Amino acid sequence: MKTRSYPRIVRRRSALHGWGVFALDSITKNTRIVHYAGEKIPARASRAREAAHQARGHIWLFAINGRWVRDAEIGGNVARFINHDCEPNCYTRVVGDTIWICAARNIKAGEELSYRYYTGGTAGIACRCKPGCQNSL
Ligand SMILES: C[S@@+](CC[C@H](N)C(=O)[O-])C[C@H]1O[C@@H](n2cnc3c(N)ncnc32)[C@H](O)[C@@H]1O
Ligand SMILES: [Zn+2]
Repeated sequence: MKTRSYPRIVRRRSALHGWGVFALDSITKNTRIVHYAGEKIPARASRAREAAHQARGHIWLFAINGRWVRDAEIGGNVARFINHDCEPNCYTRVVGDTIWICAARNIKAGEELSYRYYTGGTAGIACRCKPGCQNSL
């Protein structure tokens, strides 16, 4: 069976916020880069966890769909350190119960990876993707 290889990525300090994730290889548009790992929990059970994470300034939950959510605080991988950008270079795509992070355009080695969180501002965190960004996470 052919094993699929994924682009190499690394966690590093980010100018945007705390840790970020950076490409070590150049990545072609639409390539699957990494999946967002985390414990799969029912959406209704996620609300208390979300409130607890947000009270500490963290966003770790990622909705698979209306019924299921992944909590990267438990069993998460490097994908949990990917920051939000309002003009991101990645997008997310759910296949079954796997959340894939894919390249939205060709990405050069050394670029920080980002995708849109689509939180609707519920976390109340001012976005720092670029000077003067008025959006909230
Ligand atoms: C999934 S974590 C990303 C990793 C984070 N940088 C860290 O060091 O833990 C999400 C958190 O990163 C921060 N963050 C991500 N993107 C941001 C942005 N565009 N502006 C401000 N804070 C951001 C917020 O504090 C958010 O709760
Ligand atoms: Zn922004």
